[in-house]
Amino acid sequence: MEEAKLRQLLNSLTIEEKIGQLVQLSGEFYNASDISMGPQRKLGITQRMVDLSGSVLNVAGARQIHRLQEAHLAKGGHAIPLLFMSDIVYGYKTVYPIPLGMGASWDPALIKKAYENAAEEAYAGGQQVAFAPMVDLVHDARWGRVLESTGEDPYLNAQFAKAMVGGFQSGLKNGKGIVSCVKHFAGYGAVEAGREYNSADMSISNLYQDYLPSYKAAVQAGAKMVMTSLTTLNGVPATADKWLLSDLLRKQWGFNGVVISDYASIYELTQHGFAADEQDAAYKALDAGVDIDMKSPCYANGLKPLLADGRLSEKKIDAAVWRVLSLKNELCLFEDPFRGSSEALEKANLLTPAKRQLARRVSQEAMVLLKNQRHLLPLDRSSHHQVALIGPYADEYKMLGLWAIHGDPKDTITFKQGVGEYLDASRLTVEKGTDIIRDADFFAESGRPEDQANSQISDSATEKKHHDSAIAAAKRADIIIFAGGEHTLQSGEAGSRTKLRLPDNQQRLLDELATLGKPVISVIISGRPLVLTDVLADSDAVIQAWFPGIEGGHALADIIFGAYNPSGRLSMSMPAVEGQAPIYYNHLSTGRPEKTSQHVGRFVSRYTDAPTGPLFPFGYGLSYGEVTYHQPTIDQSQISSAQSVTISVPVENAGDIDRTETIQLYLHDEVASIVQPVKRLIDFKREVIPAGKTVTVSFEVKAQQLGFYNQRGEYVIEPGKFELMVGPNSDETQAVEFSLKD
Ligand code: GLC
Repeated sequence: MEEAKLRQLLNSLTIEEKIGQLVQLSGEFYNASDISMGPQRKLGITQRMVDLSGSVLNVAGARQIHRLQEAHLAKGGHAIPLLFMSDIVYGYKTVYPIPLGMGASWDPALIKKAYENAAEEAYAGGQQVAFAPMVDLVHDARWGRVLESTGEDPYLNAQFAKAMVGGFQSGLKNGKGIVSCVKHFAGYGAVEAGREYNSADMSISNLYQDYLPSYKAAVQAGAKMVMTSLTTLNGVPATADKWLLSDLLRKQWGFNGVVISDYASIYELTQHGFAADEQDAAYKALDAGVDIDMKSPCYANGLKPLLADGRLSEKKIDAAVWRVLSLKNELCLFEDPFRGSSEALEKANLLTPAKRQLARRVSQEAMVLLKNQRHLLPLDRSSHHQVALIGPYADEYKMLGLWAIHGDPKDTITFKQGVGEYLDASRLTVEKGTDIIRDADFFAESGRPEDQANSQISDSATEKKHHDSAIAAAKRADIIIFAGGEHTLQSGEAGSRTKLRLPDNQQRLLDELATLGKPVISVIISGRPLVLTDVLADSDAVIQAWFPGIEGGHALADIIFGAYNPSGRLSMSMPAVEGQAPIYYNHLSTGRPEKTSQHVGRFVSRYTDAPTGPLFPFGYGLSYGEVTYHQPTIDQSQISSAQSVTISVPVENAGDIDRTETIQLYLHDEVASIVQPVKRLIDFKREVIPAGKTVTVSFEVKAQQLGFYNQRGEYVIEPGKFELMVGPNSDETQAVEFSLKD
């Protein structure tokens, strides 16, 4: 409807009707089965307020959504359609690899297509808003939600944020697509000690340099909603941080969309010790700029009394309600509360062969080949070798990760199925070998009734049988493929861990397999970088497969048998030991850098009981074949602030197969008023380097890219010497120097 009519509608609402638009509830309040992941607690709000609520989270399926919308509109009054929102974090019915895997693709263009497909499915299913992308930068593998992030680099994260928002929203102009709600604003990825929901504290320059770029890129890409973080940032809960939500997000960045709290995060202001009670919490959140209260009673019960005692103006409430109504209007919900969704459209759009094919490609590009001793891989499918596929993930459907709440594991192609399409049955033996995890206490605290130990842990006799069959199969085989990793519940939200290795029972099995003197290929399923030191020692080849999504089995087999030359490059460092966390590549030099300090031996920046660097660095990954990065050249050694410099690097593929190389460009500002990292990514290019060919890859670097944020959050560019470093990963680079003159 046109704006004047919408304004009339707003002005005609009672205060209860206005407040209702700012309340979001989950399915059980509408007698719907819901797939919420958050803690369930009774809210103590009136049925009247339920009837007036403006949006619903995590209800699935066109049939159920239509039923809720019809029932809601039938209640009469000002029939304002409900807005349906859901966690569609890495796919809807067609589930992709987790975002940490998608980050390893370094292929934002492909990921944009994936999110367009996800939007098409979600739209058909009646969803209107996706609580995604999660663009929190992460440094600490102990935190379970690194699963949802594209990694540790601000530049790479910003490219994916833009691609994911664009993918979700590109259809909106044609009345399709879904709204992207970028989260969690801001700095959630910096939770102290990697402990879930813990506080985040950092300098302003660090916040601007590392943590804000991906949110800003999402806002600049047109994200129409922002979700606040559950945590504090520098002592202020993000959900009530007026500087963050009003000054920075709205005034400085020009965001005019809707801000929604995270799950119960307004109520939790009382738990943080920031609000005296729920009414005070309601005041502080609305005053800071939060429009919608997700799953807490604060707005429902607290806003009207605040008006009555004059602590809050109705104007403030009107501004929030206006943004919510404007979003509903932009989605044409007043004209069509169902936005064209239907069960028939669902049937036609979900899990199509084309969508599966794209998911297979995403999964191929996400997997990272970490080790390939003696070029064991790719295997020759025409050889007569007997292959034993062993491990708890050998024939396991649950490879979707914790936040694939619309996906169905039964739609997953398992590793057994994928490998089985390359090898006939006579050459392939598949054995479970052991459970994923055999720790009953772990399941007792998993928080989900369906995940109790008795349904996940085999009895001893069965476990022994699994073990003995696996060892027997391995002894008969020529090649062993071990498929193991984390349980789904060991990562994702509330999945913080202090030990980051394979479950003990799996490591013991792998250790035993390694004693048989056969080549071992290990495939690791996880929602985070695990500590793979022991896995590496036992294996001739290692593939990091993440939670690979519904096409994981196909993608893995495509890589193992060479149909796809692995191109994945880590977007998050892999620690050598847990004690290194947080560990990341773009760290500062320190005054006593281990490799170049004037001090020797003890008195340098290092550990006495562990290596200083990661097991595998940011940007690392192997492919089949050999490439050589020849000496880079630069077109000028000095530029002014109005100029740019171009660096070129010949990349030679001496191998006999084409390979996709991600050429990475890093910058080092040698002297600055805020110490700069030893290197930071400023550009990258994915290029196919044909077998036997040399491709010269060039990057233009503008003076504008040489700046950094100071302690006032100002972007400054300082003259001086810089290094450009180019290479296949953040550890193996060649540098050329140039200077920026005044
Ligand atoms: C959760 C998460 C958030 C999610 C929301 C709704 O607690 O923090 O990422 O979108 O609640 O499920």
